[in-house]
Amino acid sequence: MLLSLAPMEGLTGHVFRRVHAEHFGALDRYYTPFLTPPHPGSSFGKRAAAELDPANNRGLTVVPQLLTKDAGQFVWAAEVLAEMGYTEVNLNAGCPSGTVVAKGRGAGLLRDVEALDAFLQDVCARSPLAVSVKTRIGVVDDGEFEKILAMYCRHPLAELIVHPRVQKDRYDGVPRRSIYAEALAAAPFPVAYNGDIFGEDDRDALLAAYPQTRHVMLGRGVLANPALARVLRGGAALSREELERFHDDLFDAYLAEIGGNAVFRMKEWWFYAQHAFANPLAVHRRVRKVRKVAEYRAAVEGIFASEAFAAIARFDTK
Ligand SMILES: Cc1cc2nc3c(=O)[nH]c(=O)nc-3n(C[C@H](O)[C@H](O)[C@H](O)COP(=O)(O)O)c2cc1C
Repeated sequence: MLLSLAPMEGLTGHVFRRVHAEHFGALDRYYTPFLTPPHPGSSFGKRAAAELDPANNRGLTVVPQLLTKDAGQFVWAAEVLAEMGYTEVNLNAGCPSGTVVAKGRGAGLLRDVEALDAFLQDVCARSPLAVSVKTRIGVVDDGEFEKILAMYCRHPLAELIVHPRVQKDRYDGVPRRSIYAEALAAAPFPVAYNGDIFGEDDRDALLAAYPQTRHVMLGRGVLANPALARVLRGGAALSREELERFHDDLFDAYLAEIGGNAVFRMKEWWFYAQHAFANPLAVHRRVRKVRKVAEYRAAVEGIFASEAFAAIARFDTK
């Protein structure tokens, strides 16, 4: 089974991908957090350029993800990406953020299925790269998916990655896996599953219900347990020493990239990584108010010196 790392804005960018792969081995595929395509004729901005620079992604299979509803922008970006050596480009049809949706992007694309149909028609005809889509299953109601899926099935997609929640769910509730199964059964192209795979039990339940599953995209589960892919492949559980070494290299890499703002980047990671410890709340309290690099280092030293490690590192939505 293919295992990939989900695009997560602010969390799974090139620094995380590189350090994670160095410590835990590469996943089969990595998706960049969403990038806004440049206007036709211009080039990607500085941050996106760093994200896409082949030197920052050496040895990894990376699929850039674009957030747009403009076919011209998408195709232009795909041309630029093709020149950089990429072979696939992914469309974000799932971002639930109110401001994104209001502009008709991300999950907002699902509000107007006819417009998305025309967009994909144009993009699939003109893109020099294979086009995949990461999608939610609707805006308000999962009944919307029947029409959405029929529309996707009319296009030669490289893959459809289904996160079976609607936009209004954001990340709440339980993913509607039977809706993923509808896509699996009907689509003429490969379908991937994404959502709430945090441990072996989740993987087992998914595969027991849908044994045809061939690609699972992991997100928050890998942030809480960077050894998750290894564990799902039958390897050893995460150890405290491994997490500490990984943490130290990740922090150093962010410091080199963005200076003191690395503290804030790491605090976002701790929101997930706290679940590697028996008392996540205690871990959260230790890093919550920290601002300066020295304070941060002291807080983290305290965590690794005195907080008990969880029996199983596992993201918890509660
Ligand atoms: C903080 C955060 C940032 C995210 N950024 C993106 C993004 O840039 N593009 C995207 O398609 N999905 C994004 N997602 C959604 C994830 O890729 C994934 O679909 C979601 O976390 C569910 O998978 P999981 O349960 O394995 O975490 C983001 C989710 C979170 C929590």
